[in-house]
Amino acid sequence: MPVKTIIEPFRIKSVEPIRWTTRAEREELLRAAHYNLFLLPAEYVLIDLLTDSGTGAMSTHQWAALMEGDESYAGSRSFEHFRQSVQSIFGYRHVIPTHQGRAAERILFSVMCKKGAIVPNNTHFDTTRANIEFVGAEAVDLPIPESRHPDLRHPFKGNMDVDELETLIQNVGRQNVPLVMLTVTNNSGGGQPVSMENARRVSEVCRRYRIPLYFDACRFAENAYFIKLREPGYAGKSPVEIAREMFSCGDGCTMSAKKDGMANIGGFLCTNDEVLAQQEKNLLILTEGYPTYGGLAGRDLEAIAVGVQESLEEDYLRYRIASTAYLGNHIAEQGVPIVQPPGGHAIYLDARAFLPHIPVEQFPGVALAAELYLEGGIRSVEIGSLMFGSAAKMDLVRLAIPRRVYTQSHIDYVVEIILEVWRKREQIQGLRLSYEAPFLRHFTARLEPVEQAVAQTL
Ligand SMILES: Cc1ncc(COP(=O)(O)O)c(C=O)c1O
Repeated sequence: MPVKTIIEPFRIKSVEPIRWTTRAEREELLRAAHYNLFLLPAEYVLIDLLTDSGTGAMSTHQWAALMEGDESYAGSRSFEHFRQSVQSIFGYRHVIPTHQGRAAERILFSVMCKKGAIVPNNTHFDTTRANIEFVGAEAVDLPIPESRHPDLRHPFKGNMDVDELETLIQNVGRQNVPLVMLTVTNNSGGGQPVSMENARRVSEVCRRYRIPLYFDACRFAENAYFIKLREPGYAGKSPVEIAREMFSCGDGCTMSAKKDGMANIGGFLCTNDEVLAQQEKNLLILTEGYPTYGGLAGRDLEAIAVGVQESLEEDYLRYRIASTAYLGNHIAEQGVPIVQPPGGHAIYLDARAFLPHIPVEQFPGVALAAELYLEGGIRSVEIGSLMFGSAAKMDLVRLAIPRRVYTQSHIDYVVEIILEVWRKREQIQGLRLSYEAPFLRHFTARLEPVEQAVAQTL
């Protein structure tokens, strides 16, 4: 008889205590953090689902590899390990290490984009959009229409709308589109995967118009596993074969190794283009470091070299996808509105449907995230009107699951708290901004409850 329970495919060798707080303490902490969970000291968070980025637990193999770190400034042996490991999966000619994903983005767009250029993507992540806009270019999201409906089920809801891509290129002219990006999985669109067929069709359009295709590859392993599970013809292939096939559709990638690199820091930029690679390395030297370390320690390069391989292990991916779905399915069964189907690294609550009485201008996502903290010390993040301003099509609250960190009982606790907040949802109030920075405002924004704001102006 096949066993139904999917257990964590590891045992725990080192533990890190987490801390209980009282509701009164959390009320005070939330006020002091101006209702922005980024401003909260992490020691007062019980279950931290703010992000899956850099928050994973490293394996014994990764810790052992750290000791092999070669800290030479130039020509380090660790860089060779890193380069070979990355190339064995991604296949691109040049591998440029960076301190994290956004550094790879900044270098890529500085080199490839001029003012007025247009960069299409299935959905840009916030740092990707901000780095494109920072060089005066325009970031355009082209997700398939199904992705705009949180409760609609589609096996590859992260796909790009290929017809819209072609129409856009024809309307603005191919000379104004220096590159196309495809984000796998589509984080801001609900952690949804992109199919191989879609990647191939996007690649065909790019080749026809001689536009390079770059992957935002942060969660490439989870995407590969969804393809194995859901796309006809891939059940018999291994995740690494699927990943290699996908990357062969493109000309390069940006990567945050803090996700499917299973590392706590790091990233890289890959390209097949000699000329671009040279320009990118020149910029790298200016702000990140020499091209054989790129802002990372030799030991970080070793951890990533092992991590990218571990992220493709089938036992790990089976558990990873199953445990995320476990959270999503248990709350959805009780009526909690989530982005369906559950994504790879996170569950996204649909805050507009959860709190229909809070208008979008009063940040329903931020209000819901604040309430989850208040109720149970859980930290999540809004992906909606605070993060994207008027460009936000949805107000979501992302519960991102750090890799190999929390057990099923932690997840059961999260389910219990979300259901409690769901029962009390009508009492939750909206928020308004009292401070915002000129870009990436969600990191530092200050908010206050609408009722309180009104009281002060009276
Ligand atoms: C899809 C996507 N792209 C880019 C990034 C940026 O990576 P980093 O945080 O390492 O700069 C992230 C980070 O969350 C992401 O999810």
